Amino acid sequence: MTTILLTGATGYIASHTWLALQAAGFDVVGVDDFSNSSPLVLERLQAIGGKPPVFERADVCDADAVEAIFRRHRIDATVHFAAFKAVGESTAKPLEYYSNNIGGLLTVCRAMRRHGCSRFVFSSSATVYGDPESLPIREDSRLTATNPYGQTKLIGEQILRDLGAADPAWQTACLRYFNPVGAHESGRIGEDPRGIPNNLMPYVTQVAVGRREFLQVFGDDYPTPDGTGVRDYIHVVDLAEGHVAALRRLFDAPGSFTVNLGTGRGYSVLEVVDAFARASGRPVPYRIVARRPGDVAACYADPALARELLGWQALHDMDRMCADSWRWQLNNPRGFEA
Ligand code: WQD
Repeated sequence: MTTILLTGATGYIASHTWLALQAAGFDVVGVDDFSNSSPLVLERLQAIGGKPPVFERADVCDADAVEAIFRRHRIDATVHFAAFKAVGESTAKPLEYYSNNIGGLLTVCRAMRRHGCSRFVFSSSATVYGDPESLPIREDSRLTATNPYGQTKLIGEQILRDLGAADPAWQTACLRYFNPVGAHESGRIGEDPRGIPNNLMPYVTQVAVGRREFLQVFGDDYPTPDGTGVRDYIHVVDLAEGHVAALRRLFDAPGSFTVNLGTGRGYSVLEVVDAFARASGRPVPYRIVARRPGDVAACYADPALARELLGWQALHDMDRMCADSWRWQLNNPRGFEA
């Protein structure tokens, strides 16, 4: 069997990827320190996947702990999710973001090299494109970071390019996620932001369920069809399948690659609000407020390269993204809180 190490394994995208890897026939070893996720995810994964998860509790910045994991398990490839990911928080806490996001990556790569493991999938982000010069965004578009979080993704990608240039044994896949939303159809795992959600979809679900009074729409004076921000929302299950396809290519073909994982379709904030109201049957009251600093008008992918290299494309539409987000919210009013 082929064994995949998943770091940040009990997080939102990683937990869905865990299920997709299992279904694809891979063995999985999950690692997390629960700094931004719940141990309850492990029970849910067993309930859905039917197998007791192989899990190691560890901070990926702890070199001794990571070394011990590589000694206990024969790892064939690593999918590295473990990182802090809040744009606004990164501006307030740059030292924590660089230490954790870059330090964790380096620690994992050093352990991999010691153990002859050289296939690596990196969780990157469309945030590396900054304010896109043209749309849809291709992988060879200009790269720029407007916040420390985005810088950690740019630096991470550069580290992996340099690793591959120094030693062709390294095969790396940088996956640039657009806007992940939705949840597993079971409603048993999903996005569980702590405190007030930064992102649109979890905020909308909390308004629809009555946990928040109304949605603040950050600006309606953007150069977009209805004036509100346009983004490429992608179902988290499609995103998970993109990781499986990327790993298969790393095992089946030589070389490294960087691809967008998006649908190629942009939706405005108000279009998401309308779609969610239809999917949930609930009103989503909102108020137009000032733009959020750092937001761009529009951002959506050209997904052609992932289709060409990986034979992968997103399959779930906005109605499904909203229906699955709503089911998760209804089934878990307080997320993974015990
Ligand atoms: C989407 C749209 C907002 C909340 C961020 C990170 C990115 C990635 C995904 C990690 C925008 C509007 C939002 C609200 C609103 N994360 N909005 N009211 O900013 O595109 O991307 O999350 O990799 O790196 O930057 O996502 O969901 O925050 O915003 O009007 O309460 O919804 O202005 O147009 P974003 P988002």
